[in-house]
Amino acid sequence: MSEPTIALVTGANKGIGYEIAAGLGALGWRVGVGARDEARREAAVEKLRAAGVDAFGVPLDVTDDESAAAAARQLDRLDVLVNNAAITGGMPQTPTTVDPATMRTVVETNVIGVIRVTNAMLPLLRRSPRPRIVNMSSTVGSLTRQAAGGDDTGPISAAYAPSKTFLNAVTVQYAKELHGTNILINAGCPGYTATDLNAFRGFRTPEQGAQIAIRLATLPDDGPTGGFFDDDGEIPW
Ligand SMILES: NC(=O)c1ccc[n+]([C@@H]2O[C@H](COP(=O)([O-])OP(=O)(O)OC[C@H]3O[C@@H](n4cnc5c(N)ncnc54)[C@H](OP(=O)(O)O)[C@@H]3O)[C@@H](O)[C@H]2O)c1
Repeated sequence: MSEPTIALVTGANKGIGYEIAAGLGALGWRVGVGARDEARREAAVEKLRAAGVDAFGVPLDVTDDESAAAAARQLDRLDVLVNNAAITGGMPQTPTTVDPATMRTVVETNVIGVIRVTNAMLPLLRRSPRPRIVNMSSTVGSLTRQAAGGDDTGPISAAYAPSKTFLNAVTVQYAKELHGTNILINAGCPGYTATDLNAFRGFRTPEQGAQIAIRLATLPDDGPTGGFFDDDGEIPW
């Protein structure tokens, strides 16, 4: 029997990350539940196992170098990494009043955290026959959409929205460097989804929000890389 595909989802203890883990698990994959809090991590692992998923816990704080390195040491194989963990830094968040500490914390988690975890996992991913990296971004990071304005561009956001623009830019640079390898890396937006992140104001379910990550995690070998997608297709940068 061939070995199962192994995925790691960061911030998988709740919200969209949990549903990404559930969705990948439903494909018969073995899924690492990356989460920083032991009790929340183990509760999610138990719930996933009860649903028939081959889940295991991976202690992981994406802002901590040693935590990312330890998570990589815990795994002996990895095929798919979903960088899902993120924070907003709290709202309201106007550029004229934002605390520099908020900017640093949000970028540390949403951008540097992705780079930290990705680079820790790359040696494992490079050994996979079909490696995929999914960075959970947001349409609020689309400069094209923000510049166009309109009601669906979210609140004014000094840290969170620009952190997703930064993440998109980093995703493109990874795709450039990894060009010619079998690693496909893309950014995805789940749509406005009811989770803790927005005090459950979103209109999509976490299960719906997880679909784009599942699609990007299961891309065929000739699938896109360095792109930005939601369920409706390509999103403008
Ligand atoms: N919800 C939306 O409408 C929406 C829209 C566009 C994009 N997104 C993106 O979708 C992704 C998932 O968001 P969500 O709505 O599911 O948010 P959520 O319910 O707030 O979940 C965020 C997850 O990230 C984890 N996390 C935060 N900081 C972490 C750290 N330093 N180390 C490890 N884990 C950390 C949280 O863990 P704790 O439980 O320990 O805090 C939690 O598991 C994010 O990238 C978000 O930006 C969401």
